[in-house]
Parts: sequence; C-alpha cells; structure tokens
Amino acid sequence: MLPKEVAGRRAAEYIETGMVVGLGTGSTAEFAIRAIGERVAAGLEVKAIPTSEASAQLAGELGITLTTLEDDPAVDLTIDGADEVDPDLDLIKGLGGALLREKIVASATARQVIIIDPSKLVKKLGTQAPLPIEVVPFSWSLVCNRLSERGIEPTLRMQQAEQPFVTDNGNYIIDGRFPEGIDDAQATDIWLNTLPGVVENGLFVAMTHLVVIGEADGTSRVIEKS
Ligand code: A5P
Repeated sequence: MLPKEVAGRRAAEYIETGMVVGLGTGSTAEFAIRAIGERVAAGLEVKAIPTSEASAQLAGELGITLTTLEDDPAVDLTIDGADEVDPDLDLIKGLGGALLREKIVASATARQVIIIDPSKLVKKLGTQAPLPIEVVPFSWSLVCNRLSERGIEPTLRMQQAEQPFVTDNGNYIIDGRFPEGIDDAQATDIWLNTLPGVVENGLFVAMTHLVVIGEADGTSRVIEKS
C-alpha cells in the first residue's frame, strides 16, 4: 500500500456516524474519500462537504451524501492533503488547485486532519514547494509584479501552452517561489491577502489539529497539535 493510501485509510477511521465531514482534494485525499465510501457502504452515516468539483464527483460516485455550508455551516472533521507541513503543523496547500475551497472548509472545521507521506514534512515552509496564490484573472500580471518586488518568484500556472489553469472558482493561480523559504507564515498570509486581486493563498496557519503520516512499510504515525 502506498504511504498516501495508508494515511488516507487511517484518517478515515476518525469519522463517526452523524458527522459533517469535509472532503479534501488531491491524490492523498482521494484515498481517504474512497475509504469513507467503503465505510458508508458498510453503514456509516455522514454528510460531506467537498472542497472541489473532482472530490464532489468522486464522493457522489461512491454514494457519500453531500451537503453544503449553507445547510451545514459547522464541519466536525475534515480530511485533506498538503504540499508541505512544518513543525508547527502550518501548511502549504494548493498544488492541486483547490486551495480556496479547502481553506474555506478548514475555517469551518472543528478538527482538521491532514494526511501526507513523509516527503511533505519540512523544517521551513516554502523550501520545497512553491506557494499557490489564487487571483482573479484581471489582476494576475499586477500581482506577479507585487510578488517580484518582494523577491518572490512568480509563475502563472498553465493548463497547456498559452492556456492558464483555471480553478473551480474561475480564477488563475500564481505559484510563488520563495528563494529562502517563508520566514513568517502568518505575516505572509496576511500580506498576500491584502493585495488587490488576490482571492486566497495556500498558507494554512494554525488551522491543523492532527497530521497522519503514512509510511512505506504500511504503518502510520500521528502528530497532534500541542
Ligand atoms: C489541493 O489543492 C491541494 O491542497 C492538495 O491537498 C495538496 O496539493 C496535496 O496533494 P496530493 O495529496 O496529491 O499530494
């Protein structure tokens, strides 16, 4: 079993009947959604809020009942992946393009469970992955200039040549490289979201309660927020 599957299956065990569950996005979250689907088929009763069209479709195919933040504004537990996890359990997310809905659902979640393989653990955020920043299309070049002025190297994410990647919300994503990593994740998060045109960024600061790390030997370990 792949480490991502080990983590996804372990996290799905935290879900109990009656819960409103947030469904993350990405290859690791997909394993968790499939494990939840198996539990639903065996009698587990939950309502789920997906963080992307892809996760909504998969959940629907697996017979998982979907709900919305309008009907269920309090999410008991969300299971989602991450691109980087630092020692404070702060994250970079969004290489899969779903960071906006992921962050909205995380903000409504009582217990945020992050599932990763060991390669996602870093000492400092931004040293391995770029930081995805979701922007309205009208603003993208201006936001790139603002990032460059601060020494952040921006790249507009492309779907194919000449065609930018478009999120589920109709926006673009700029991937920002921090040559020295991110020194102050909280300040960077706040600053980025003040730039006109930025809708959200992939820094998840103080939002994670528990991280499940799947290992290649089929075991898993858990780090809880102290
Ligand atoms: C989706 O937008 C992302 O936040 C993913 O959760 C993240 O990129 C991890 O993806 P994988 O599980 O595919 O590595």
